[in-house]
Amino acid sequence: MSRTPFIAGNWKMHLDRAGIATFCEALAAPDYGAEGVRVGVFPPFVYLAQVVEALAGTGIVVGAQNCHPADEGAFTGEVAARMVADVGASHVIVGHSERRHVFGETDADVKARLDAALARGLDVILCVGETIHERQAGRTEEVVFRQLDAGLAGLDGETVATRVTVAYEPVWAIGTGLTATPAQAQDVHAAVRARVAGTCGDDVAARLIIQYGGSVKPDNVSELIGQADVDGALVGGASLQPTSFQALARLGTGVNA
Ligand code: PGA
Repeated sequence: MSRTPFIAGNWKMHLDRAGIATFCEALAAPDYGAEGVRVGVFPPFVYLAQVVEALAGTGIVVGAQNCHPADEGAFTGEVAARMVADVGASHVIVGHSERRHVFGETDADVKARLDAALARGLDVILCVGETIHERQAGRTEEVVFRQLDAGLAGLDGETVATRVTVAYEPVWAIGTGLTATPAQAQDVHAAVRARVAGTCGDDVAARLIIQYGGSVKPDNVSELIGQADVDGALVGGASLQPTSFQALARLGTGVNA
């Protein structure tokens, strides 16, 4: 079972309209050269429609960084999964550590967003990961499994295999310049895949795309993706310049067997 790597750029609250236009021109160039890899960008909500339009026909995935589970209502400042789908995006990130730890989203909040996204036809990247204190206390698997189980609860195996990407992002490695070693990443990725095998079966687990995230850069991506269970990367800082992001995409073409 081979898995096509997925390199996703999470732009967080960065860039602007003009910068994004230039970025999309670079990405849409025909000599872009990233084959054997799936590439996606996740702009701030207000630029989603612009990016969807600019990248139409390129095969590059465009998604949101979060969504609200309700279709509409009195939720000032929120954006519904329905609206993300309505502007033509295909994906949404749920449970990013900044949503969990800065904005206080619980496992139940993340699950509601994930279910709403799937119901509205969006595929999801479900982020899981432990803090440094949890890792030092030997609780990495307990925390990651709790977040994983909550996110995948009640989903049928085919949905998990084809519409869910899991991103393992140790919180201590995000935006800090500290990267998990390839062996540390592989350990958790293998544990996540085994956990999914236990709940959804071996076939689903073998097809599941598991990205690594946390200070991924062009100079460390190959080694990470070279690990047997690392199928791509969710990238913040290094996804903000077209040259760096394109380098990541080109380097991310190692297909895991
Ligand atoms: P980083 O962010 O690459 O800047 O560490 C990763 C993420 O938050 O998804």
